[in-house]
Amino acid sequence: MLKSNGLLTGQTAVVTGANSGIGEGIARAMAQAGANVIVNYVSGEASALALVKELEAGGGRAAAVFADVADEAQVAALFKKAVQLYGGVQILVNNAGIQKDAAFTEMTLAAWQKVLDVNLTGQFLCAREAARLFIKSRVNPALSCAAGKIICISSVHEVIPWSGHCNYAASKGGVMLLMKTMAQELAPLKIRVNSIAPGAIKTPINQTVWSDPAGAAKMLDLIPYKRIGETADIGKAAVWLASDESDYINGATIFVDGAMTCYPGFATGG
Ligand code: BGC
Repeated sequence: MLKSNGLLTGQTAVVTGANSGIGEGIARAMAQAGANVIVNYVSGEASALALVKELEAGGGRAAAVFADVADEAQVAALFKKAVQLYGGVQILVNNAGIQKDAAFTEMTLAAWQKVLDVNLTGQFLCAREAARLFIKSRVNPALSCAAGKIICISSVHEVIPWSGHCNYAASKGGVMLLMKTMAQELAPLKIRVNSIAPGAIKTPINQTVWSDPAGAAKMLDLIPYKRIGETADIGKAAVWLASDESDYINGATIFVDGAMTCYPGFATGG
């Protein structure tokens, strides 16, 4: 791991779903920036523990903590554990998310509900717990000029409709207005709330697409910058959004997508 850039020294970040994919990349970047990292996981304890080991070997402080983000009591226990371990929390990265894809007419209620539970209700429960904590602990100028920062990991599909994924797109559209409403309501309390909307990032969630040459080519057709994203691309943006460098950014979605949201079909037509 590189030497800490110090942007988040002494702060504690809870990163949900941090044992794989984008969450893992964010946990690495946060640790590198000097934050204590709670590596939350719901399945995949082994990978969470391996990541903690890796972060500690690089000089960071981290702990793996189990919690299902869609379970109110488990979310409360997650934050309690973080406070026990590190004395407080200054950053929440609402990352945990899943896909359960099906054609609209084939979408089961169970698949609809599960995706909404994890991707939207999970973000609500974690953010509510974090905000309650931030309000109690107030601003500590030695750590940050904000009382706390919440970063919602959304998706380009908070604005791009996605056939075959109505549950996922609806959950991310929901995250957009949840984030903006929280930003409006919590700003006077010195809490900043923003989203990162990743495009196609190489992770297990879309592995069947990018690991197949024809799938990867189709994906690249949708990315004007002609590169599939890496989890580190999201990690860097998350560190910046969590740091005082972005102190006046509040209620914004930052698209980290190689221009996927710039209507690539219109590059040659229209
Ligand atoms: C989805 C990925 C997809 C990307 C771009 C993400 O939110 O989880 O499966 O590749 O959006 O469409």
